[in-house]
Amino acid sequence: MALPKINPTTTNAWKNLQEHFNQVKDLKMKSLFAEDADRADKMTIKWEDFYVDFSKNRITEETINHLLELAKDCKLEEAIKAQFDGEVINQTEGRAVLHTALRASKEEVFNVDGKNVIPEIVQVKEKIKNFTEQVTSGQLKGYTGKAFTDIVNIGIGGSDLGPAMVVDSLQYYKNHLTTHFVSNVDGDHVNEVIKNLNPETTLFVIVSKTFTTQETLSNATTIKNWFLSQAKEEDIAKHFVAVSTNIEKVQAFGIDSNNIFPMWNWVGGRFSLWSAVGLSISLSVGYANFEQLLKGANAMDKHFKNQPFNQNIPVILALLSVWYNNFFNAESEAVIPYSQYLNQFATYLQQGIMESNGKSVDRNGDKIDYQTGTIIWGEPGTNSQHAFFQLIHQGTKLIPADFIGFAQSLHGNQDHQDKLMSNFFAQTEALLNGKSKTEIVEELKQSNADENSIKTLTPFKVFEGNKPTNTIFVNKLTPESLGKLIAMYEHKIFVQGVIWNIYSYDQFGVELGKQLANKILKEFDEQSNTNHDASTSNLLSHYKTFR
Ligand code: F6P
Repeated sequence: MALPKINPTTTNAWKNLQEHFNQVKDLKMKSLFAEDADRADKMTIKWEDFYVDFSKNRITEETINHLLELAKDCKLEEAIKAQFDGEVINQTEGRAVLHTALRASKEEVFNVDGKNVIPEIVQVKEKIKNFTEQVTSGQLKGYTGKAFTDIVNIGIGGSDLGPAMVVDSLQYYKNHLTTHFVSNVDGDHVNEVIKNLNPETTLFVIVSKTFTTQETLSNATTIKNWFLSQAKEEDIAKHFVAVSTNIEKVQAFGIDSNNIFPMWNWVGGRFSLWSAVGLSISLSVGYANFEQLLKGANAMDKHFKNQPFNQNIPVILALLSVWYNNFFNAESEAVIPYSQYLNQFATYLQQGIMESNGKSVDRNGDKIDYQTGTIIWGEPGTNSQHAFFQLIHQGTKLIPADFIGFAQSLHGNQDHQDKLMSNFFAQTEALLNGKSKTEIVEELKQSNADENSIKTLTPFKVFEGNKPTNTIFVNKLTPESLGKLIAMYEHKIFVQGVIWNIYSYDQFGVELGKQLANKILKEFDEQSNTNHDASTSNLLSHYKTFR
């Protein structure tokens, strides 16, 4: 079954939601809590080591019921089945979408064109495992007989962001190898990375699903030339490995066929860290931890597939996001992890969410007249509190936010952990309750402010509150819980794509810029650039004066 093609705005549920929105849009969450002592309990999903509290949202129980109706009207259940069954749901690219198969157990069955792909996946995992063990044990050596000390992942987009985020997030679990990431075609990036590297002890992992990406091939070529300025052609086999679906192109680049880790076209780039694209994760934290990451994601897959929607974490998060995006007209969502380890998490999610759901044509090929993909952004707390929280608390925009926290710290400094967590809880409470005029006046009186100051300052100090947040509270940051967290957002993306009636797994929107860049690159040595708009022509001429 292909994905259903239902315009969500034509469903009964949507109409009911619109009417309901008009009734509840001005409700204050503070009052909803006061009216129902069980609200927090009713709006919390406890699953394994996850505690997801969505009670601090501008919703009533009726809102949830209408949103669940919307999921039903948009045939979400059928869509989930189609995805897990390996149907060609990425129709614009003619592919199945089965990143979930990559983290399945050996016993599970995932069919693509009637063939179970699990045995192939198991084979590649074995290869990742053996290679990781050989590198980390020092058994595999570089061209002068020295063990490897450094790994360089060369890739961009999904071939960089996922592995880079996970390696950074799991640095507590890291081994002795130092892992670097080169992605930008900006030559200063690659040069900064290689300037301190010793080619004798560095392993290069070139990751490109297509093996045609300009950035990755340019960086790989620069690195290969730098390597060959010190080593011989035959040494390449010891230092370069590749992850790709394009075996021919990898071989043409000069990589030994034993050093190729295959992937499949039913794995989208931004959902690929679970495949051999995650090789640098395995090399950095060891294969056992990589497996734990997959195990966590697999547990979330089962939760998503089997839990009724009212108890289903990704489904509820996705529906709440639709509620704000399409009814409150919220433009963006913030993701605030209270863990410095998750420093790159929002950046990683930006590709997952915005490349997937940034679409304006529906599955019928028609222009959409409702809002789709949310703008996603964020930084870890408490740093972000001292950066952009002012705008969330007192700005004019409604910014629903996910607060992600871990009950236990990894290094075990309870004093810091308590301070961190007190901020974590305080912020969502402050966003919920705000601070009224009466409270401000009272506070100023207490601080002995005079009548005039009280009158002048009060409006500036009022916090309206009623700002929605989800609290995603996890016991501890482990490879397994990180796997669950990433998979949770992956499924949220899928649910929203189904409801918005768009194809979430293509990314044609990144092509135009690439095509034009190639054209402009060829023109740098030409005399005139008349075939551009006047602004671009002037900019090109100005640039040429620096070449
Ligand atoms: O940005 C577009 C994109 O196609 C992403 O979807 C993908 O993750 C990235 O480029 C890299 O592609 P590849 O792995 O083929 O080099």
